[in-house]
Amino acid sequence: MSPAYTFSQRHLLGIEGLNRLEILHLLDLAEEAVAVSRQVQKHKASLAGRTLINLFFENSTRTQSSFELAGKRLGADVMNMSVATSSVKKGETLIDTAMTLNAMRPDIIVVRHAQAGAAHLLARKVDCAVVNAGDGAHEHPTQALLDALTIRRNKGRIENLNVAICGDVLHSRVARSNIILLSALGARVRVVGPSTLMPTGIANLGVEVYHTMREGLKDADIVMMLRLQRERMSGAFIPSTREYFRFFGLDAEKLAYARPDALVMHPGPMNRGVEIDSSVADGDQSLIREQVEMGVAVRMAVLEALARNLPNG
Ligand code: CP
Repeated sequence: MSPAYTFSQRHLLGIEGLNRLEILHLLDLAEEAVAVSRQVQKHKASLAGRTLINLFFENSTRTQSSFELAGKRLGADVMNMSVATSSVKKGETLIDTAMTLNAMRPDIIVVRHAQAGAAHLLARKVDCAVVNAGDGAHEHPTQALLDALTIRRNKGRIENLNVAICGDVLHSRVARSNIILLSALGARVRVVGPSTLMPTGIANLGVEVYHTMREGLKDADIVMMLRLQRERMSGAFIPSTREYFRFFGLDAEKLAYARPDALVMHPGPMNRGVEIDSSVADGDQSLIREQVEMGVAVRMAVLEALARNLPNG
């Protein structure tokens, strides 16, 4: 049976703005999508006749492909807009591109953009539902939802878990969305990293801040590593990647600071040997591949929930 319907949002622009029941509703819906995705026959018809456009201004492997698969599994017509070969390269603005696509009457646009706030801007301009697939260093809501689903399935709960989010917190939309979501579901979240990669005022989000892995990983149930986002860095934030790995890269020695049954996560793409060692990324405590599977399920849940709120949904 479908979970009680408690999701009334028109768009999914961030975790900020969702209440606990809405988050839980999406996670429960995603559980159903996991079951569907594990069947031989993976199709449902809940988005039959609907059009989904993936509009990615930044590179993506996991998010774009999983939204495409999710849309197709739900019966939607899915178009991946190739920005690299589009008129964006001739100087067309985000809004002009969006208005052009809007005229083709899509039902849902999934957008990734380097500027924080891009998805919110788009949502004010178009007639359809908008999903934020990552906007600058602001939010990546479906990543946080898939992370929460992965944690809940492996630990049986989220409440009262110690979650350590480690590395380049400053440039991370994944960290921000996860802090908001996991805190809303009762986890104790801490962030760990060098002070140069820690946003000022991060403690105002209700997290504890640590600058060594030994202290930050103590008693952690979940160790969530972040990618070092060199493409967003405009100066020297770390002395060298070798030095960074020595102090903040997760290897077996540092993982031993956490609980013996701690689980390791990474949103991907990973920089092996920079923020995570291969022995840990591919080891028994790693949930990284399962996160990818949960990504499709969570995106099916989000599309289904938003489709219900479309006109005639
Ligand atoms: N985690 C994540 O957003 O991965 P992609 O950049 O491959 O979509």
